[in-house]
Amino acid sequence: MMKPFKAGIIGLGSVLPDKKLTNSQLESIVETSDEWIVKRTGIRERHILDDGVPLANLAAKAAVKAIEDAGLQPGDIELILGTTVTPDYLTPSLACMVQKEIGAKNAAAFDVSAACTGFIYAIQTGRQFIENGTYKNILIVSAEALSRATDFTDRKTCVLFGDGAGAVVLSQVDDNTGVDSAIIGAVGDDGDVLTIPFLYTSETDIANRNEGKKQVIWMDGSEVFTFASRIMADATKRVLNSADVEMDQIQYVFPHQANMRILQNAAKRLNVSMDKIYSNLEYTGNISSASIPVCLDEASKKGLLKKGDKIVLVAFGGGLTYGSALLTWSKEA
Ligand code: COA
Repeated sequence: MMKPFKAGIIGLGSVLPDKKLTNSQLESIVETSDEWIVKRTGIRERHILDDGVPLANLAAKAAVKAIEDAGLQPGDIELILGTTVTPDYLTPSLACMVQKEIGAKNAAAFDVSAACTGFIYAIQTGRQFIENGTYKNILIVSAEALSRATDFTDRKTCVLFGDGAGAVVLSQVDDNTGVDSAIIGAVGDDGDVLTIPFLYTSETDIANRNEGKKQVIWMDGSEVFTFASRIMADATKRVLNSADVEMDQIQYVFPHQANMRILQNAAKRLNVSMDKIYSNLEYTGNISSASIPVCLDEASKKGLLKKGDKIVLVAFGGGLTYGSALLTWSKEA
């Protein structure tokens, strides 16, 4: 059934912190090598937010760029959806802090918690408000400072993650572009393979971590790898099927950027060339929910996306969660 309104991305913005952490710098922190990291992950460097800078500050910079790119004012935004696994505070939410920093006084604001899949969950949440006519302009801001939740004595995780922020303005569009279909899902039964404890810490959480490290990422890398490779392919196929669209009609797939081998594995399952799989993880590392909006902003600025192109966004992450979205691109190149 045709929806009365569609939701399309009309503005994008992103920011990576200036400070970089290269693989060779990591060699002096843990027992690892540039060669191992590049071969096993594809990552060469990641960006690190300076101590003392709130994440909301980075998020607000990306948000301002996205609103300007959309040709709007902060006062035009009616809802802010924030996504992060590394908030400055449990309350106020990232979304409320961004609202304050950018002066979006007319907006409701809340965070969506779905780890690395947060951006897709926010797209699926935001589009409901637009399709049912409640709001016209929504800001989605995804920002992460994973370096603050990383144990830099654990070589199995500390080489993977980085910091960054991406934002989009999702607005009512009337040219039949925008979100054609989206799927979100969760496998809570397997949530214990990727955790960041906060106010509660179980015996297992303590046993899995180095002594004295509580609120840091722990992950069963190979379990997550298997889940991610399978679900990236499955969720892409499902969203295409739901809209009766074939893979060869897709210009680009924008996956969550966790590991180049996951992307290659999923591309093989999808029988699609790596040319169609957008990737920037070489210089960002895994920036959780910020990875897809940062990629979209980059691709848009490089002129890789033109109005009417069909693209797939697909993510997986802690929870475990997953999601995919099929979009007909709404912005002129
Ligand atoms: N440098 C050097 N050696 C390392 C290392 C590092 N940074 N990290 C792990 N190793 C070692 C291990 O200790 C192990 O040594 P061992 O055989 O002597 O025990 C060996 O390398 C192989 O470890 P393994 O865990 O099997 O490597 P892998 O090929 O599975 O790669 C990950 C590990 C973490 C890169 C991979 O599992 C992965 O990317 N998983 C998904 C992670 C992810 O994307 N999570 C977020 C999802 S949102």
